[in-house]
Amino acid sequence: MNFNTVDKLSLQNKTVFLRLDLNVPLDGQGNITDDTRIVKALPTLRHILKQTNKIVVASHLGRPKGKPVPSMSLEPVGRKLSELLNLELAFVKDYVQTPVDQLLHQLGKNRIILLENLRFYSQETENDKEFAQVLAKGIDYYVSDAFGALHRAHASVAALAERFPKERRAIGFLVEQELKTLDKLKKGSKAPYTVIIGGSKVSDKVGVLLNLVNHCNHVLIGGAMAYSFLKFQGTRVGTSLVEANVGSLISSIYESAEARKVSIHLPLDHVCAKTMDSTETKVIEGDIPDAYAGFDIGPLTVDAYKKVIFASKTIFWNGPLGVFERPAFRTGTSAIAKAIADHDCYSVAGGGDSIAAINFAKVADKFTHISTGGGASLEYLEGKILPGLKVLFFKNFNI
Ligand code: 3PG
Repeated sequence: MNFNTVDKLSLQNKTVFLRLDLNVPLDGQGNITDDTRIVKALPTLRHILKQTNKIVVASHLGRPKGKPVPSMSLEPVGRKLSELLNLELAFVKDYVQTPVDQLLHQLGKNRIILLENLRFYSQETENDKEFAQVLAKGIDYYVSDAFGALHRAHASVAALAERFPKERRAIGFLVEQELKTLDKLKKGSKAPYTVIIGGSKVSDKVGVLLNLVNHCNHVLIGGAMAYSFLKFQGTRVGTSLVEANVGSLISSIYESAEARKVSIHLPLDHVCAKTMDSTETKVIEGDIPDAYAGFDIGPLTVDAYKKVIFASKTIFWNGPLGVFERPAFRTGTSAIAKAIADHDCYSVAGGGDSIAAINFAKVADKFTHISTGGGASLEYLEGKILPGLKVLFFKNFNI
C-alpha cells in the first residue's frame, strides 16, 4: 500500500506528533499488567529520537467517556516509557488551556512530551476539528503508529491527520508491520489455513468470519460464542452464555463455509460449573445439563483442535477459548497458545485476551506476529477501510 512511512521523513529539529496506542491493561493500583503495546511502539520512537526530541506522544487509555478518570491516567505508561527509553518525559495534563506549542521551546535535550489520556476530552471521540486544531499547534509532522486505534474516527486519529499535507504525515514501523502481516492473511496465505475464533459475541466476529471463510480451510470456535453455535446445531448448552437473535448470522456463516468447503469445528466437551465463580468444575461431553454452564473447552476438544493446528501452515487466532481470567477456566486457551507456539507455521494472534494468554504461557516469541490491534485487526481483515488509514491515504489538506 502506498503510505508514507516514518523513515522517509526528514525530521531534524522538527516537531512531531506521534499518535500511539498505549491502551495497556492496568491492575487498578497503577501497575501495567501487559506492556506489549508500549514495547511495540519503541522502534518508531527511537527512530524519531535520532533526529529530534521535539516529540509529542499521545494516546487514549480505556473508555473514560470525556471526563478525567484517575484510574485511566497515562501517568504509569509515562513512567514505563521513560524507563524503557532512558529519558525524561514531560507529562502534560492540560493541553487545551495551554497548547503544547507553548511548552515545546522549554524542552531540554533529553525530554519528550506525553499528553494525558486524549479521551479525557469528549472532543476526541467526537472527531472534533477544533480539538484537532489545538493538538496541531506548533506541530510540523504527524506520525500514526496507533494500529489498535485506526478503526476509530477520533480527533487524534482522523481530524488531526487530515490537517497535514501528504508529505508531512506518515505511518510508523508498527502500523507498517501490522498491515504487511495482515495483508498476507487476506491474500497469499499458505493452505491449510486455520482461523481460531473465541470471545463471547458472535455478532462481534461475524464480519471477520464471513470474510475469512473466503480464504481459510478450517475455523475452530471457542469461548462463549461456541455456545450460540452449539445451540443453533441443537446441542443442549445448560445455562451457558448464549447470544440472542444470532440464528441468521450463524446460518450465513455456515452457508459461506459450505460453499467454500471450509470446516467449522465446535467444542466436543466443556469445563463446566454451576457459576463462573465456582471452583468446583466438571468436564462434560456433548449436551450440558440445565444446572451447568460451559466456561472453557475440555480436553477432548483441545486434542481435536491440536490435530487441526498441527496440520496447518497458516493460523490466525483472535479471542480466548474460555474465561481465561479465571484460573479454573484457562487451561484450554493456554493449551491452544502452546500448541500454536510448538508448531512451525505462519502464526498471527490479535486481541487483548489472546495476547494475555500468549504472554501468560510465555510463548510470544514463537508466534510470527502478535497484532496489537483487537478490533482494528478484525475490521482490517474484514475488508473495512479503517478511518485512520483512509485519512492518511486519500486526503491531502494543508495545515
Ligand atoms: C483496543 O484496545 O482495541 C484499542 O486500544 C482501541 O480501544 P477502543 O476499543 O476503546 O477504541
